[in-house]
Amino acid sequence: MNSDNRELEAQNAFADAVREGLSKTGQKELPYSYLYDELGSALFDAITFLQEYGVTRAEGRLLRRHAKTIADMLQSVRRVAELGSGNGSKTRSLLEALAARGPLDYFPIDVSEYALACCKRELTDLSAVHVSPLRLPYMDGLRHRSWVASEGKAALVLFLGGTIGNFHRSEAASFLQSVRSGMVVGDALLLGADLDKPTSVLIPAYDDATGVTAAFNRNLLGHINRVLGADFDLTSFAHEVRFNERERRIEMHLRSTRDQVVTIPAASMRVQISRNETLWTESSYRYSLGELKNLALQVGFREIGTWIDEEWAFASTLWIAKDQ
Ligand code: AVJ
Repeated sequence: MNSDNRELEAQNAFADAVREGLSKTGQKELPYSYLYDELGSALFDAITFLQEYGVTRAEGRLLRRHAKTIADMLQSVRRVAELGSGNGSKTRSLLEALAARGPLDYFPIDVSEYALACCKRELTDLSAVHVSPLRLPYMDGLRHRSWVASEGKAALVLFLGGTIGNFHRSEAASFLQSVRSGMVVGDALLLGADLDKPTSVLIPAYDDATGVTAAFNRNLLGHINRVLGADFDLTSFAHEVRFNERERRIEMHLRSTRDQVVTIPAASMRVQISRNETLWTESSYRYSLGELKNLALQVGFREIGTWIDEEWAFASTLWIAKDQ
């Protein structure tokens, strides 16, 4: 397939996802994965610097502090794949510790060319780490031929950042199950998950005083305008953050401040949005330690270590693929 076709196909998938979400009777939705175009990724990077948003820094501290311990527990690991590599800055300390015992192959898997380039650049000085970026969706990356099991060498899969929180709880389990199916017994998974914490801490983390998260949220409409030719008026949507107590998830919405009709040519649709109606753009679930332990067993792993940050309740949990 040439790159024009691939682009067209990606645009069609985007259009389909937008059409599906906006055609729902009742709560309208938009697909959260399209928050991350180039601008959205830059805004997310800015979020990680916010005082109110402790998630990324907590995981960074955990990986720095426990890299050696984790590497010691993974003596036979010579290959590392990361799902959604971001810019590689958090992964660095872990790769360094693993590479202290010998050369390491690292496969960052991401659909963003830009993220992969940053990641590669961030790691150039680690001469024992051989970086092979895979520009693919996660599952395609995990099944890619360059990433095949080799004798006596185990693989480590990284799914960091608390990204698991974007999946609805049941989808998180089936996602991890498919990750497990791309692994063999003895391979490891390091998962980062944000833990339950007071609502008074969570709300500002997603509704910061500087307005970066609001911009991140609104940019989803900008992204739809740019790629699908839509005419969303970004100024007539307000950023709204709720904590859903029953589901234990943060929800991001965009609330329309007026009655309006939006045209989305590439999705062949016109959609009516009422004043005060919201578009639900993202969910971010919190986990308990018990849930993480059960999840591991449920999807075919044995938990061998869990580290929790002292300042911000975030867990890095290390699982080994077991016989099923
Ligand atoms: C990248 C999915 C971990 O849910 O905390 C941050 C995304 N959204 N602020 C999260 C996000 C709004 C973030 N994850």
